[in-house]
Amino acid sequence: MVKICCIGAGYVGGPTMAIIALKCPSVEVAVVDISEARIQAWNSNQLPIYEPGLEEVVKQCRGRNLFFSSAVEKHVSEADIIFVSVNTPTKTRGLGAGKAADLTYWESAARMIADVSKSDKIVVEKSTVPVKTAEAIEKILTHNSKGISFQILSNPEFLAEGTAIQDLLSPDRVLIGGRETPGGSKAIKALKDVYAQWVPEDRIITTNLWSAELSKLAANAFLAQRISSVNAMSALCEATGADVSQVSHAVGKDTRIGPKFLNSSVGFGGSCFQKDILNLVYICECNGLIEVANYWKQVIKVNDYQKSRFVNRVVASMFNTVSGKKIAILGFAFKKDTGDTRETPAIDVCKGLLGDKARLSIYDPQVTKDQIERDLSMSKFGWDHPVHLQLTSPATSEQIWDVAVDAYEAAKNAHGLCILTEWDEFRKLDYQKIFNNMRKPAFMFDGRNIVDVAKLREIGFIVYSIGKPLDPWLKDMPAVA
Ligand code: UDX
Ligand code: UDX
Ligand code: ADP
Repeated sequence: MVKICCIGAGYVGGPTMAIIALKCPSVEVAVVDISEARIQAWNSNQLPIYEPGLEEVVKQCRGRNLFFSSAVEKHVSEADIIFVSVNTPTKTRGLGAGKAADLTYWESAARMIADVSKSDKIVVEKSTVPVKTAEAIEKILTHNSKGISFQILSNPEFLAEGTAIQDLLSPDRVLIGGRETPGGSKAIKALKDVYAQWVPEDRIITTNLWSAELSKLAANAFLAQRISSVNAMSALCEATGADVSQVSHAVGKDTRIGPKFLNSSVGFGGSCFQKDILNLVYICECNGLIEVANYWKQVIKVNDYQKSRFVNRVVASMFNTVSGKKIAILGFAFKKDTGDTRETPAIDVCKGLLGDKARLSIYDPQVTKDQIERDLSMSKFGWDHPVHLQLTSPATSEQIWDVAVDAYEAAKNAHGLCILTEWDEFRKLDYQKIFNNMRKPAFMFDGRNIVDVAKLREIGFIVYSIGKPLDPWLKDMPAVA
């Protein structure tokens, strides 16, 4: 029986191993983590991450051929194939701070693997890491190997949160990169055999190590670039009276371009896009490719511009001041169907509004108050070292943001609503009821283009929807930089 161990029971490791266990009954899969609390949660009825369909798969396999454990060393030493899926945040200090990936967790995992291994291992890089990380890891492993052979593979993950199970069950492709040596080919085949249990052969691509690593960064950079492109268009649409949805539709019909990832929004978020582009930029700069680095940097600049443009629009529309005004924030997660808030545009938008002294009432169906508190109290790259900022208004000590139980409570007595996540339930709200309980004029700022603008205007809302022709009211307000 092949034994697989995955180090890191997070958003990537958890769902990926659950599907391998589901599809390969003859493989024993152990998912290990240094966080006892995370492992306990995986073994409970309340999984640590929200992902549609995941619970059913875990329940079916847990205890059969899927195990969650904090006995990291034991499972690593027993495994034939070790996936490493630990977090690789952007460095917060030192060389490359704000750009380069922090490989501390990765390096410590690699040293531990070298320490405890007593038989040959295939080590699979699953977290997104900078190109040539595999080479560095290979060095750590071989220099500490005590005569054991390690083969390192890069097998980047392409699942998107919210659709992880579907993405894993029928992936567009599985990518496996390895050394072009007999040992490397043998390792590639061993991993390919695992995926071949459910993925058609023509969708399993094999490449050299660096192509696999770079393809992951490139794919995320291309996706993010499409969003920044359409978001840049949204600003122009607002200025000219074009409708960004109509433009996206027309552009996406060109089969050379395609319709996906062309939804204009308040900005992209998530743990990957920004981090991977920053990584790409850093690698380009390290190789002296300044023009290439600047090209990709612009994707992040436009994303930041889109978030601040949204905040400016809110403030400008409401007579240039939101001081003391209640604003309802609908949605805090970086996209629907996840409770993940990493790099969510909601953080920057909320901080922007709080900076203008607004009072926020935040509602998200999956994000806890504790999480929001952590996010709003951290500096931009501060998730490893939280710095507590002032969360209460200095003059009155009154709390300036709170969490509501639903959208109706958040909107009660509010001057404006901001939709920041495209949760399906926000499409179905009783907006007449919401309007009746709001201060007038009542503003709607739709950062995801999910409401029916005409209907809301009929009710009486002043509506701003990204990239749509502006309400006459908004046209009269000062221009947004
Ligand atoms: C992404 C990649 O899609 C996935 O392949 C990779 O493995 C990890 O990174 P994820 O970040 O989970 O996945 O979600 P994704 O669906 O890509 O959305 C990222 C962000 O872009 C979200 O904030 C989303 O709201 C935003 N987005 C997406 C848009 O603003 N417009 C779009 O058209 C699509
Ligand atoms: C383009 C648009 O494709 C067409 O829809 C529009 O109506 C007019 O402009 P055209 O300029 O005739 O058409 O040719 P196109 O095939 O788009 O190629 C433009 C340039 O891009 C060429 O120099 C081509 O060699 C280059 N190209 C194209 C690449 O370098 N790489 C590619 O993958 C595709
Ligand atoms: P991702 O989105 O890449 O899956 P997460 O942050 O959700 O990232 O998950 C990474 C997990 O890896 C965390 O649960 C963390 O505790 C775990 N981890 C980090 N370093 C180690 C290590 N050396 N050994 C075991 N687990 C680790």
